[in-house]
Amino acid sequence: MTPILNTPAWKHAERNAHGLRDVHLRELFEHDPQRFQRLSVRWNDWLLDLSKQRIAPATLPILAGLWDTADVPGWIARMRAGEKINHTEDRAVLHTALREQTPRPEVATVLAKMRDFCAAIHSGQWRGATGETITDVVNIGIGGSDLGPRMATRALAAQCLPQMKVHYVANVDGADLATTLAGLAPQRTLFVIASKTFTTQETMQNAASARAWLTAALGEAAVSRHFVAVSTALDKVAAFGIDLANAFGFWDWVGGRFSLWSAIGLPLALAIGFDKFEALLAGARAMDEHFFSAPPQENLPALLALVDLWNADFFGLQTCAVLPYSQSLELLPRYLQQLEMESLGKHIDRDGKLVGCPTLPILWGEAGTNGQHAFYQLLHQGGRPLACEFIACKEADFPVPGHHEKLLANCFAQSAALMKGKTEAEALAELEGAVPPGPSFLAPYKIFPGNQPSTTLLLPRLDPYNLGALVALYEHKVFTLGVLWHINAFDQWGVEYGKQIAGTLLPMIEGKTAIGGVDSSTAGLIAACKA
Ligand code: F6P
Repeated sequence: MTPILNTPAWKHAERNAHGLRDVHLRELFEHDPQRFQRLSVRWNDWLLDLSKQRIAPATLPILAGLWDTADVPGWIARMRAGEKINHTEDRAVLHTALREQTPRPEVATVLAKMRDFCAAIHSGQWRGATGETITDVVNIGIGGSDLGPRMATRALAAQCLPQMKVHYVANVDGADLATTLAGLAPQRTLFVIASKTFTTQETMQNAASARAWLTAALGEAAVSRHFVAVSTALDKVAAFGIDLANAFGFWDWVGGRFSLWSAIGLPLALAIGFDKFEALLAGARAMDEHFFSAPPQENLPALLALVDLWNADFFGLQTCAVLPYSQSLELLPRYLQQLEMESLGKHIDRDGKLVGCPTLPILWGEAGTNGQHAFYQLLHQGGRPLACEFIACKEADFPVPGHHEKLLANCFAQSAALMKGKTEAEALAELEGAVPPGPSFLAPYKIFPGNQPSTTLLLPRLDPYNLGALVALYEHKVFTLGVLWHINAFDQWGVEYGKQIAGTLLPMIEGKTAIGGVDSSTAGLIAACKA
């Protein structure tokens, strides 16, 4: 297939970008008072403001040409038909089937089992080995078996059931498990062992240690009342000693980082209740329907993807800050790091060739306003062009009087400042107009180059429905970028090499084999630990 870089659509976009390269965002706003109206898109009660991106109104139809050239609609059809578009792992990609209105029978069966289990826990019908009700759930998983439900549980804090505390343990650092278990009562604690493969070292170690903690207090027989599992590998679940009646399955056509909607969402459903979990699925489904049907210029995931490509490939931006002005969304950047970087942090395309252009920028971020008092200095005056993605909600999820207006004011102020900057003349005028006037030598420090592009996504509120739609929005953005760059967004070979080497180092660190066959730095570090 012709690389997208060699297509007329790409060349057209390149020419458009060239024409905009020396134009400051401030000028674009000054020349077009209707810019916001022209470059913001609505979906239901959502607003996506792209007007602070370095695009012209003509850019979006040009970028839509890339959507057609790469045949995104054709790839959507292939995905939905269950074709094995994850070709390197020979797997279909059907996470959207988990949230269909009428799910396929195997999905419906697991959802019904989750509903019953949540009801049994919440009603107190399911009790621990000593007859006490479950008050604490500890999800043990990592990557896609942790980040989605963890982020969503945090995001929906306002919706969580007061009688249920859900904790997450991921890191193989014993500190994660030990600090979580401190203060928990074994007789009231349920462990959810979540692992698609049920082989992941971190999860298996944490699960074994959790089991030892529980059985030390309640005995071996207590395991069946205090451990449930979520996995595609039910044979391994049984081998671990978890009764399959207490196991929730999913399938190889659900990628780990796309698995929130499967039984991997169980800890979230336990935290918020199954009805609200279903509302999350409904929100994702609404976004699916939008993505599958809307033309690219009105299609939110498509627009996010096209703008990311524009910034990375035509403006050379190497990093993007995700800045949710919502404390409840503080884990969103971390969640998106896996979703986007594990999916698109690749330079080899579907044909085994170099992609030939930069792919995904480095993604990072922090909840506003906290980030303002940490790293925004660099965004404003670090001399490094980068993109920002602001996310805000019209309504507060915790409406404490006097707070939300300040939060929104800060959010909109930051994107405005990044866009327009402050000129030398403005800095000088500000100093001169101050009472008493400020010294003019300060002027260079008060200049802001501006011209930092950003997107703002304004949601009505943070509830299960809108969160579901938000996560699905990013999933579809990732899918679209994968198609545009001709990358398989669903494998993750890049995480294997380190695991492989760790496997050879472990016996050396454990003292089971002599240190050898490694570079001098690695050997030196191991020796220093053992000395
Ligand atoms: O980090 C690699 C990875 O395979 C992720 O893609 C996955 O989400 C994570 O490990 C956990 O895998 P599992 O659910 O099989 O334990």
